[in-house]
Amino acid sequence: MNTLVRAFLTGTLNENSRFKPGDLRWKIILSVLLMYGLNSCSHVDIKINESNIMETEKKNMGSLIALYPKPLTIIGAEVDGKVNWLTVGHTGIIGHDRILVSMSKNHYTNQGIRRSNRLSVNLVSREILQKADYVGGVSGASIDKSDVFGYHWGEHGTPVIDASPLTMECNVEDIYETEGFDNFVCSVVNTYAAPEVLDDNGNLDYTRLKPVLFEFPTYSYIATGEIIGKCLNLDKEPVMCVKEPMSADGIVRLSKIEVFPQHRDEYLKYAAEVGEISLRTEPGVLTMYAVSEKDNPCKITILETYANSEAYEKHIASEHFKKYKQGTLHMVKSLVLSDQTPLNPANQINNFIQ
Ligand SMILES: Cc1cc2nc3c(=O)[nH]c(=O)nc-3n(C[C@H](O)[C@H](O)[C@H](O)COP(=O)(O)O)c2cc1C
Repeated sequence: MNTLVRAFLTGTLNENSRFKPGDLRWKIILSVLLMYGLNSCSHVDIKINESNIMETEKKNMGSLIALYPKPLTIIGAEVDGKVNWLTVGHTGIIGHDRILVSMSKNHYTNQGIRRSNRLSVNLVSREILQKADYVGGVSGASIDKSDVFGYHWGEHGTPVIDASPLTMECNVEDIYETEGFDNFVCSVVNTYAAPEVLDDNGNLDYTRLKPVLFEFPTYSYIATGEIIGKCLNLDKEPVMCVKEPMSADGIVRLSKIEVFPQHRDEYLKYAAEVGEISLRTEPGVLTMYAVSEKDNPCKITILETYANSEAYEKHIASEHFKKYKQGTLHMVKSLVLSDQTPLNPANQINNFIQ
C-alpha cells in the first residue's frame, strides 16, 4: 500500500499501472490519504510554553471586542417618507469594495433601510458632534429627527448631510444577521467630500478631515491625532516619539535669541535641526516651536516646554543639543531664557512635525 501511495504522490506509475476512474485502487488510495489527512488534523500538537504564559505582564481580558477607536458616523435613510438619522460607531471595511454598518434590529431606521436598500454614511467632524450625539440618543420612532441636519439628496437617493465633511451613498447588497443585529453589507455608490478636506490634487486629506473617533468601552469621543509616519516608509523617515505628560516640575520657557545678521541663515539651519531631532526623539521635549520677528528676522523666540526637569537635563546633555550649542556660539548676539507659568494648565499644546 505504501508503494502505491508513494507512486501516486511522486507520479512514478507506469502506463499499465495507471489508474482509471472507478478503479478500486483509486478508492483505496484516496481513503488512505483522507484518513491520513484527518488524522494529522486531529493530532495537531500545539506546544505551549507554560513559563512564557505565566511571565507575561499583560492581563488576559477574555473574549473582548477591542477594535477601537472607530470613526463615528451618522447613518441617514428614508423611513416612512421622512429622513431619519442615527449614530453608528460599529462600521467596518470588507475587502476592497464593501463596507459594513452594524445596527441593532430595534432601531427605527432599519425598517427604512430594509425597504429602500439604501443608506448614507456621514462622517462626523467636531462641528457636528453635538448633533451626532443627539441623534444617537433618541429614536425616530418617537421623535422626528428629520430636521436635525441640513441635507441634500444625493444622486443615489440618500440624504447627504451638508455639514458632514464626507458622505458615502451606499447600496445595501446583503444583510448579514447576527443575534439582535442587522449588519448591512454595502457597496459605495457616490462619495461627496467638502472642498476643505481635499488636498491641492483633489484627493482626500484626513489630516484636514479630522474624523471624530468613538470608543465603546468608555463611551468616549476621541480626536484624531497627528501623522506619525508614512506607511511602508518608516525605515526611511523618522517618526515622532510618544510624549510624556507635563508634570509639576515641568518647564515652560521662552528662549529669546538675537543672531548677527551675517550668520542668520546658517543659524536657522542649526536651529531647525536641533528642534526637529529633539521633538521627534525626546519624549520629555513637548514643544520646540521657533518663530522669528517679521520686522526683525534676527530676533528669534523659541517656545520650549519640557515634561519635567530631568527631561530638560537630558536635552542639554544630548549630542544634538551640544552640536547646536557649540556650532552657533559665535552667531548669537544675545540670549535671554525666560521661564513662564501657564495661566491655564488645562490648555495643552500638541507640537509635532509632519
Ligand atoms: C456614540 C454612539 C454610537 C452608537 N453606535 C451604534 C452602533 O454602532 N450600532 C447601533 O445599532 N446603534 C448605535 N448607537 C445607538 C443608536 O444611534 C441609537 O439607539 C439611535 O437612537 C437609534 O435611532 P433610530 O431608532 O431612530 O434608528 C450609537 C449611539 C451613540 C451615541
